[in-house]
Amino acid sequence: MTDQPDEVSHVADYPIGASITEDELFRDPYRQYAKLHADEPVSWIADLNMWYVVKYNHVTEILMDPDRFTTAFDRSTVRDTFGDQMLSVEGSLHHKYRKTMRGSFRPKAVRDNAVAGIRANANELINAFSGQSEVELRTHFASILPVLTMLSTFGLPRSDFDKLRVWYNSFEASLANFKWDEAIRRRGHEAVAAFHTHMQSAIERATAGEVPDSLLASLVSQMPDTRLSDEEIRLNALIVFFGGISTVEALILNSVWMIGTHPQVHGRLGEDPSLLPRIIDEVARWRSPVQSAIRHVTRDFEFHGHMFREGEVVCCMLGAANRDPAIFPDADKVNIDRPREQKHLAFAQGPHMCLGMHLALTEARIAVECLYERLPGLTIKMDKSPEPVGYEFHQPEALYIEWKPSV
Ligand code: HEM
Repeated sequence: MTDQPDEVSHVADYPIGASITEDELFRDPYRQYAKLHADEPVSWIADLNMWYVVKYNHVTEILMDPDRFTTAFDRSTVRDTFGDQMLSVEGSLHHKYRKTMRGSFRPKAVRDNAVAGIRANANELINAFSGQSEVELRTHFASILPVLTMLSTFGLPRSDFDKLRVWYNSFEASLANFKWDEAIRRRGHEAVAAFHTHMQSAIERATAGEVPDSLLASLVSQMPDTRLSDEEIRLNALIVFFGGISTVEALILNSVWMIGTHPQVHGRLGEDPSLLPRIIDEVARWRSPVQSAIRHVTRDFEFHGHMFREGEVVCCMLGAANRDPAIFPDADKVNIDRPREQKHLAFAQGPHMCLGMHLALTEARIAVECLYERLPGLTIKMDKSPEPVGYEFHQPEALYIEWKPSV
């Protein structure tokens, strides 16, 4: 599992990739992407031991081609951590898993089942600090709301919050464990085993009709020819649960950060609140919460003049593709009037395109709406809130906001 593919050195052919460090990518990914866009749009990042692809058209081509670029590969940290679920299988099995779940994440289902709960949770979290005049938004709001949403999506009680958060932290470390550290891997596997045990009792409660109107209730009540086995439900629950947490946290924080650092956008939002979905869409392009999608090369072949070898990892840089100057004029600038025909790739593309996109956009919209409604004069404390960082998840490490306290 941890074996590297036969060593083929690309270092000499990709001088920019050889010079970029993981730390630089973390601290200022967009600066590194700009260098790659200009001179090495397909590059071997030696420090990460993987290909980086930054052009919009190349990224789209890869994501649409599971035959040459697969998620179903042994040396995938997603598969090693979570096993065979939606994001580690292709073809008919992938279709079967996705089909059983997609109904619960369509726009109408999100409107009918999730909106009221998200708004209630957001307001409850704001109640806890609205009497003050400042708060650190990540800790006290953005990191909590998505977990509450996932708990209610699955029909799990709020008392599960702490347990799930701890498991989640182990999952996250294990999924980013590209150096295959054994201790991180073991902790990830232990958390996954605990999640399975916990989810199995939830499946049994759902089967007994005790958690109506939840994703689990819908999964266990499907007709025998489409119903997934309990193990398949547990495996796919892992990826849905994982997919809906840090991602949404980052979209909420990046949205508040963008509005707070762009007075014109803030002004227009004040005049016309219906602009919010458009603003959040531009945030998803400009500061993409998920910066990359990983694929594995299934056989040796040449990709636009670059020799890809079987087993190598290709990182489709969604955040970089969303700043491709050939596709998005003035790509580094925020422009909420951008024509929307050219879709950004923040939720990827192709068969694995994000299942929870509508839920994510709805959640971020409600979160931002509630914050600005409830905290008049909301601004960012810039001295304590550095810009977003990260080349996997991308968000501010801390975001302090202040407002005029109500008298
Ligand atoms: C702003 C929030 C979100 C962003 C930016 C985001 C982004 C993405 C991306 C880029 C992928 C493709 C990964 C790949 O191809 O390797 C993906 C897949 C996925 N996402 Fe999201 N996501 C978000 C929220 C959510 C939410 C709320 C859920 C859960 C309800 C979710 C569930 C999933 C699942 C299950 C997949 C795998 C789909 C498949 O393999 O067919 N995501 N997401």
